[in-house]
Amino acid sequence: MHAVTITEPGAADVLRWQEVPDPTISADEVLVKVTASAVNRADLLQRQGFYDPPPGASQYPGLECSGTVVEVGDAVTGWSVGDACLALLAGGGYAELVAVPAGQLMPVPDGVDLLTAAALPEVACTVWSNLFPTARLQAGEVLLVHGGGSGIGTMAIQVADAAGARVAVTAGSAAKLARCRELGAEIAIDYQSQDFVAALRAATDGHGADVVLDNMGAAYLARNVDVLAPDGRLVVIGLQGGRRGELDLGELLALRASVTATSLRQRPVAQKAQICSGTVGHVWPLVESGTVRPVVDRVVPMPDAAAAHRVLEQGANVGKVLLSVP
Ligand SMILES: NC(=O)c1ccc[n+]([C@@H]2O[C@H](COP(=O)([O-])OP(=O)(O)OC[C@H]3O[C@@H](n4cnc5c(N)ncnc54)[C@H](OP(=O)(O)O)[C@@H]3O)[C@@H](O)[C@H]2O)c1
Repeated sequence: MHAVTITEPGAADVLRWQEVPDPTISADEVLVKVTASAVNRADLLQRQGFYDPPPGASQYPGLECSGTVVEVGDAVTGWSVGDACLALLAGGGYAELVAVPAGQLMPVPDGVDLLTAAALPEVACTVWSNLFPTARLQAGEVLLVHGGGSGIGTMAIQVADAAGARVAVTAGSAAKLARCRELGAEIAIDYQSQDFVAALRAATDGHGADVVLDNMGAAYLARNVDVLAPDGRLVVIGLQGGRRGELDLGELLALRASVTATSLRQRPVAQKAQICSGTVGHVWPLVESGTVRPVVDRVVPMPDAAAAHRVLEQGANVGKVLLSVP
């Protein structure tokens, strides 16, 4: 098969579409012929040498794909050769073939074509698992999503809006804020020109955020705690602003607030399987009814993965950049 390899840690042009050995499957895995994968911010870090795949995972980048089952392990039930599927991966999605633990396969929601559906696995699983099982977001609560125009942000806005939450976002341009409003954000804050703590308090009669979904880590830690409402929950899923920050425990104590940080990729297979199943049960019906839509910024041929990485590096995307297998 062909896969996108990282020839050495570095800039986007270290990515190379090359012939490599086909993957083999174990008894509880399925082999998927990939239709499309999608770029995640984590792929950029992996390419730069800052985010190694977990032990046992493929060395090729790619945390998700859509495709067709071409081989089924002896212990796998419920999947057959020829089935269309989506997969949440620990790596290896930027390839023509990928081996997937069967619990990380999901059906394709009705009404979504196989190429477009590649925009769903990573963002739907990350958003659902963090907003609901982790943060326990309730209807009527205020959710602040940082980076509302990101792949994650565009999914979080729609899923939280569908759950009856009031959604606030930050983004760095008027165009992205407008797109976030179209997707269901009620409060749109330009982080370049506004202080998001003051802006969100002003927009919510002083209440603040019941839940914050954060991509910035250390750079926003103090202000994320400042913006929380009593009993608020801060969930950190990205470290774009660094990993080491100072936490005011007195402030947390007074608010009865919590801070959680999670990484989907590092979870054990059994937890990923639970998350896939919860996502299919809770998010797929919203996709099938048209309430939640995959947001695709553009489709790039997989051999040009370097160009796709540059799109994310320049912050030029709203939603997902897909990689289609030629
Ligand atoms: N923990 C997990 O399991 C998990 C899973 C998936 C993704 N993630 C994380 O989720 C985040 C989004 O991932 P993605 O793949 O969707 O990436 P993406 O599309 O590349 O989005 C990155 C976003 O960061 C925003 N951003 C940059 N500086 C910002 C600032 N100062 N304040 C607020 N937002 C800022 C950008 O917004 P502007 O363009 O408007 O500046 C952009 O929308 C990443 O941090 C990623 O690592 C975590």
